[in-house]
Amino acid sequence: MKSSHAASEELAESLLVIIRRKTGESYQYEQLCKKLGTDSSGIDAAISILASWGYKIRAKKSEGIRLISLPDALTDIGISSKLKTKFIGHIIHAYNSIKSTNDRASQMAEAGAAEGTIVVAEKQTKGRGRLGRTWHSPSGTGIYLSIVLRPKFRPEQAPGLSIMTALALAETVNIYCPGKTFIKWPNDVQIGKRKLAGILTELSADKRGINFVIVGVGINVNHGVGHFPDELKDSATSLRRVLRRKVNRVELLQSFLRQFEKEYLAYQKDGLKKAHSRIKRYSSLLGREVIIRSGRKQTNGKAVDIDSSGRLILETESGRIAIMAGEVTVVKN
Ligand code: BTN
Repeated sequence: MKSSHAASEELAESLLVIIRRKTGESYQYEQLCKKLGTDSSGIDAAISILASWGYKIRAKKSEGIRLISLPDALTDIGISSKLKTKFIGHIIHAYNSIKSTNDRASQMAEAGAAEGTIVVAEKQTKGRGRLGRTWHSPSGTGIYLSIVLRPKFRPEQAPGLSIMTALALAETVNIYCPGKTFIKWPNDVQIGKRKLAGILTELSADKRGINFVIVGVGINVNHGVGHFPDELKDSATSLRRVLRRKVNRVELLQSFLRQFEKEYLAYQKDGLKKAHSRIKRYSSLLGREVIIRSGRKQTNGKAVDIDSSGRLILETESGRIAIMAGEVTVVKN
């Protein structure tokens, strides 16, 4: 037999499904009692549970029940509700605290997790960045996400997924910050000159081809200045710092997942054909003098183009060269 608390939680979830359909619209008590097979005290108990989950609900016997706002918690039920993707995010593993969502997603992929499975966390204790760096991941402020992909294409095409992801992210962020969103090749998303988000793509392949790819995304959403370590205070930003208001992370994450799916389907079909001109439009490097470091190698030149494979084209003293990956420093703006 179910405990009365479990039964109330189940009722709260069913109530949520109904009132989430139209945020801001009123539902009468009698109407809901009938639909859910309970009485008004059952509805009130369900509302208290939803309030404890962070949903803001106005409930008055005379006016009915209205959902005012959603919680800003990265839960599977919150993320999946109205997500409407074809396969990305259909399986969600949401954690309060985890070492690294990329590590967890990788273990799950090894164990057979389906394409589109996502791992999200409120906090990472060992968040990883590119080039062995740490990705600072304080609790309840950012989005720390990993997506399991099982593309059919050859391993050589996997690196292009990073810039494709940067584009999906830039398109999403640009809705919040029109005209201020940039991609710093190969795969950082910036607002103005400061870094907002980073991408860590990891590939598992053998001689038969790709086993899986993990696309890891870290976005600074509601970080205040105090959330950044001193060394990042001047180079990083968050949506909250730019917009001077908090942003609902669930809505942002859902928009990103929808955009990501669109870009990924197009990428599987035609590579970067549909993305190429938009990647160039968002690029913060074109026309700039840059230094690209890759291992011990350093190349200086002017960034003049991004080709249809996502490579950065540099005009150097010895002619034009195409670069696939590296760490960029802008020398002249
Ligand atoms: C970068 O260095 O810019 C890439 C940062 C990638 C961070 C994300 S956060 C979610 C996922 N899990 C990790 O451990 N790293 C990636």
